[in-house]
Amino acid sequence: MIRTEICDMFGIEHPILLAGMGGASTPELAAAVSNAGGLGVMGASSVGPRALRNWIHRCRDLTDKPFGIDTLLPASVRRGTNLAPMSNGPLPQDLIPEYRAMVSSFLDQQGIPIADNKEIWPEEDGPPLFSKEFFESQMDIIIDEKVPIYVSGLGNPGPWVERIHSYGGKVMAVVGAVRHARQVVEAGIDAVIAQGHDGGGHNSPIGTMALIPQVVDAVGNQVSVIGAGGITDGRGVAAAIMLGAKGAWIGSAFLASEEAGLFEGQKQAIVEASEEGTTVSRSVTGKPARMIKSKWTQLWEESGKEPLPMPFQTQISRPALVSANLASRSQDINPGFAGQGIGMIKAIRPAAEIMAEIVDGLESTFTHQLNALSG
Ligand SMILES: Cc1cc2nc3c(=O)[nH]c(=O)nc-3n(C[C@H](O)[C@H](O)[C@H](O)COP(=O)(O)O)c2cc1C
Repeated sequence: MIRTEICDMFGIEHPILLAGMGGASTPELAAAVSNAGGLGVMGASSVGPRALRNWIHRCRDLTDKPFGIDTLLPASVRRGTNLAPMSNGPLPQDLIPEYRAMVSSFLDQQGIPIADNKEIWPEEDGPPLFSKEFFESQMDIIIDEKVPIYVSGLGNPGPWVERIHSYGGKVMAVVGAVRHARQVVEAGIDAVIAQGHDGGGHNSPIGTMALIPQVVDAVGNQVSVIGAGGITDGRGVAAAIMLGAKGAWIGSAFLASEEAGLFEGQKQAIVEASEEGTTVSRSVTGKPARMIKSKWTQLWEESGKEPLPMPFQTQISRPALVSANLASRSQDINPGFAGQGIGMIKAIRPAAEIMAEIVDGLESTFTHQLNALSG
């Protein structure tokens, strides 16, 4: 069995981590991956503090193995630099009415009724979604509940490291560049996830194959580096290990799992997509993210409008995308974030089966390649 130093650090059997994916990596999916010997990490980026506590309890009900939570800590929101004028002059908040009008006429043309506000903004009594207060209130719950592993998907978790370490928790951060890896390692985190351009969700301009060894060279003698971005089967995990990573953070491969919190149409879109099916767009969160091409990404490409910075773009995108989901039009309007490896996904399956296949693939890749070389 292939084990690395992260297996001991996290108390897991295989060096395979379920990536925190907003909406998709639910307590059910995280628990299934942890029960199968990996590390299940819930994607709680848009889960408000009250619901987050319920998620943690639900995950603990489903597994007695270690698990983690991933949220966002974007520097632009925490420092307020997102409030600056846009490149063409106006303040982001002043463009909201014009952008809403464009989206509302798009939904009209598509025959999609706008969903009820309660469906769109479920935690109305908490801090506004993706505000500084929202991110900080999530951290308070994570620390109060002594969540074993915390992962920041964006930004530097430095201010929280000491409090998480004080109860024995571990901290990781996703980075897309060597300078960010250096910053988070200096802040005292335990492992760094190097996610390249191939990956689903918020996106680095650097390809995975080039990023992993450069992050390993920069910080690999201080912390474990975990590879991510387009790693969709056991061959990919083996490749990341060959590049110096101690394991893999895998998202898209689990999107078409039975446990993932996606609509059926979104899972079907993953199964049907090829390696050419994704694009990088700022149209959902305001930051560049890899997602499946759709009528939504096309709308923004053709509009010539610059998406607003986080969190303002969410005020535009969320009503539209939630309405599309509820009208069962998730496949052509909101198929969701995904990485370039989705061409390898051929069916909707239980997460345990996906895990078992990745573990087998990892072992057999090393065996076959070594045999081939020695022959
Ligand atoms: C549907 C989806 C949602 C995602 N949401 C988040 C998120 O909320 N927070 C985060 O840190 N990363 C998010 N990501 C990125 C993943 O954590 C991970 O880095 C990425 O999936 C790795 O690339 P892969 O999809 O090719 O495996 C998301 C990715 C996908 C596919």
